[in-house]
Amino acid sequence: MQVLLNNTNESMQTPVVGEWGIYEELLLNNKEIAVVGLGYVGLPIALEFAKDFSVVGFDINEGRVQMMQDGQDPSNELEEGEFEGRNITFSADSSEMAHAKFYVVAVPTPIDANNEPDLRPLIGATRTVGKVLKAGDYVVFESTVYPGCTEEVCIPRLEEESGLKFNKDFKVGYSPERINPGDKVNTLTKITKVVSGSDQESLEQISKVYGHIIEAGVHKASSIKVAEASKVIENTQRDVNIALINELSVIFSKLGIDTYEVLESAGTKWNFLKFQPGLVGGHCIGVDPYYLIHKAKAEGVNPAVIASSRARNDEMASHLALSLMEELKQKGKKTQGAKVLVQGITFKEDVSDIRNSKVVDLICELKAGGLHVDVTDPYADKHEVEEEYGILLKQTPDNDYDAIVVAVDHKQYSFLDSSYYHAICNADPVIMDLKKTVEGKVNGFQYMSM
Ligand SMILES: NC(=O)c1ccc[n+]([C@@H]2O[C@H](COP(=O)([O-])OP(=O)(O)OC[C@H]3O[C@@H](n4cnc5c(N)ncnc54)[C@H](O)[C@@H]3O)[C@@H](O)[C@H]2O)c1
Repeated sequence: MQVLLNNTNESMQTPVVGEWGIYEELLLNNKEIAVVGLGYVGLPIALEFAKDFSVVGFDINEGRVQMMQDGQDPSNELEEGEFEGRNITFSADSSEMAHAKFYVVAVPTPIDANNEPDLRPLIGATRTVGKVLKAGDYVVFESTVYPGCTEEVCIPRLEEESGLKFNKDFKVGYSPERINPGDKVNTLTKITKVVSGSDQESLEQISKVYGHIIEAGVHKASSIKVAEASKVIENTQRDVNIALINELSVIFSKLGIDTYEVLESAGTKWNFLKFQPGLVGGHCIGVDPYYLIHKAKAEGVNPAVIASSRARNDEMASHLALSLMEELKQKGKKTQGAKVLVQGITFKEDVSDIRNSKVVDLICELKAGGLHVDVTDPYADKHEVEEEYGILLKQTPDNDYDAIVVAVDHKQYSFLDSSYYHAICNADPVIMDLKKTVEGKVNGFQYMSM
């Protein structure tokens, strides 16, 4: 007997009863997909699955769950209407996932105070899944980790909690996420998704499930470790390249050369890579390399290039603060009590995400140097900024700043003109324009950049 499914996806073969895999069961809405951790990564994937599959979204944060039940994205990333018509329930009660067959784990993987992987959220989520795991279930991890983490840390805990046997009773996969906060072009379904499985069958089934929602298609990695490694090196490669440019910018500022002009010139060669200097913050690039560093050291390898790049990028905030203070001194101004306005506190442009923002380090360094620092940001949530960093965002700037730091390249800042900057500054101010947001558009100021 053949069962026709109401689906137009070409990858979907008409399943024959007895040959069904988990994909077909999910598609018939016989079984549910559970997404564990509904943040920047988990919520979009849950909502995308919920177009054609039955989904339960689980998160330990009841406040966030309440917002999602009301059709709001707590991370402010999704467009309006993304919740409409989706087959999804949100819950902070893990027993709601008891009927699921396919678990997707997308919880945070931060680092601790010693820059070591903090696997507590991942282990917690794994144990939660283990408690409701049943024979025949699949678990796919999406959180960024070091190669080996899924097999060494997660699978034993799934077995321990469930009493089931890995690859006999349940299967596991790893499929890293590549979305980029604030990027409205390279969105979830438009980015090739790397998938992997614990055996050939799981690789095929997991590929079909993701292939159903990812327009760009899936790339089948040969193993879970390969998929884990591929994700962590994407961000490590970026971190190392930016570190080189940051180092060059330190050298060039000593030489009195404009780094951006050098990059523009070198960039005319066909194979020159176009990276820019910058503060490397956020949840991914400034964090993920530490996972690789941890694993390399555990295996007796000294990851010197990766570690020194991380250190270089982390030092940039302090370097910039010292440069600004030096510049003020050169102008004959006292740094003690000098007033600075920092424009932008989010970790990158045009997003509200303040996690691991290195602008905060810059603010702290300036304050430690005795400067009075005001901060504005059109995107950041003032309550979150206060709670996370103890910084009170200012709504309206004063009119007596000695220096302005345009720290984040928010679109709004490019609309501010000379009269705005003249109105808020004392005589002979400095504008530290980290991303060249203002320079060239606003005249009559002395500029510093990276
Ligand atoms: N943010 C990105 O753009 C991005 C891109 C690619 C990969 N990643 C990776 O994806 C993973 C998730 O990142 P994110 O940015 O979505 O994190 P996030 O902080 O936005 O969201 C994580 C969610 O998980 C929930 N959570 C924490 N512990 C939990 C548990 N034990 N059980 C259930 N829910 C739990 C939190 O309440 C939160 O809602 C990380 O490993 C990150 O490195 C993130």
